[in-house]
Amino acid sequence: MASTILLNLIPIFLLCITIAQGRKTLHTSHEFSASSLVSTKDGICKTMVETQGYTCEEHKVTTQDGFILSLQRLPAGRSGERANKPPVVVQHGLFSDAVIWLFNSPEESLGFILADSGFDVWLFNGRGTKYSTMHTSLTPNDKAYWDWSWDELASYDLPASVEYVYNYTGQKMHYAGHSQGTLMAFAALSQGQLLDMLRSVALLSPIAHMNQISSIGTKLAADLFIANDIYWLGIREFNPNVDVGAKFLEGICNTLHMNCANLMSIFTGPNCCINSSRIDVYLDHEPQPTSTKNLIHFSQMIRTGNIAKYDYVDQAQNVQHYGQRVPPTYDLTKIPNELPLFLGYGGKDMLADVKDVKVLLNDLQDHDANKLVEVFNEDYAHIDFIMGVTAKQIVYDPMIDFFNGY
Ligand SMILES: *[C@@H]1O[C@H](CO)[C@@H](O)[C@H](O)[C@H]1NC(C)=O
Ligand SMILES: *[C@@H]1O[C@H](CO)[C@@H](O)[C@H](O)[C@H]1NC(C)=O
Repeated sequence: MASTILLNLIPIFLLCITIAQGRKTLHTSHEFSASSLVSTKDGICKTMVETQGYTCEEHKVTTQDGFILSLQRLPAGRSGERANKPPVVVQHGLFSDAVIWLFNSPEESLGFILADSGFDVWLFNGRGTKYSTMHTSLTPNDKAYWDWSWDELASYDLPASVEYVYNYTGQKMHYAGHSQGTLMAFAALSQGQLLDMLRSVALLSPIAHMNQISSIGTKLAADLFIANDIYWLGIREFNPNVDVGAKFLEGICNTLHMNCANLMSIFTGPNCCINSSRIDVYLDHEPQPTSTKNLIHFSQMIRTGNIAKYDYVDQAQNVQHYGQRVPPTYDLTKIPNELPLFLGYGGKDMLADVKDVKVLLNDLQDHDANKLVEVFNEDYAHIDFIMGVTAKQIVYDPMIDFFNGY
């Protein structure tokens, strides 16, 4: 029973945790060192990777706006044989971090599966998450630390991490992203970034257009988020686990007169294939915090269906930031037609709704047909793509075949 409730809370956590992250992150201690290859006693390598018998390296990269991000590298498979294939970089979604790719057994988790398939695996951690809390001049206690949305994840975090791997390995790489990690890629690629460093791009639960999402919980959250005073109250970090974040979620559940034990389904769809006996392990670590501004940005997308930069609403502020009164849009038709793309999406996904994915596919209608692979599974919802016990057969194996082609 307790597990069921916790399981059901995960989607909400995934949606809401970002606000809370700042507080938690203060407790982690990651020394910034001049060398980018670092050793961290309590890092992801030590706690999640080496414990499974794999080698692992901790790396750090500093973004142009001063955030110090951690990356974990799995340079070999479990047998110890070093990677003989190009790097694959893996980008997590909202309310999570790189740990999400290592939660299940090595036979089920994408991070380990890629390493055992011969790839040089690099896991990214976005700003504000547990292992990427450092900044050259700010701390998570500063409001300015949380002054970003996915625009900055796409224009700073992603290029810094990809360029770091490119510089370090001297090789072009494959990209795999989930949810917000797909939106970051769409935004960057549509602006011509990263292209010279990537071989191919895999997008799981692709998030682009968002106005047909079928989750009424998420829709209500989006409406409340725009109307609600969380940001204007001065709360810049959203943590679903405490105070404002927790009350916010409780309010949604009460307003909808829904069974609060089903929050995960309410927000992400009925995940078919998550191992319920592992929920406690997930909740030891997730969800991770995000910025309030990021959630407002998502709410704007849900309202409009547009993929545009953050709207300050105030025209003068938009002019100040963008030189125009309305935020510039990201034009996905600009993604080069010959870039190999893999799209994995599910019939029960309430965030990357099939109807919205069709609008995305329409944006990509001129894409070279032999460079666009679609894997659709009718039963999969949002979280199945990262934690599903069947994800290897259904998603990861076809994705690896796709990578092997480039
Ligand atoms: C990658 O190398 C280039 C050229 O040396 C350098 O300008 C850039 O800062 C490096 N990027 C990262 C993220 O280390
Ligand atoms: C589910 O998790 C439990 C506990 O970690 C594990 O023993 C079991 O093998 C897992 N089942 C599947 C299908 O992965």
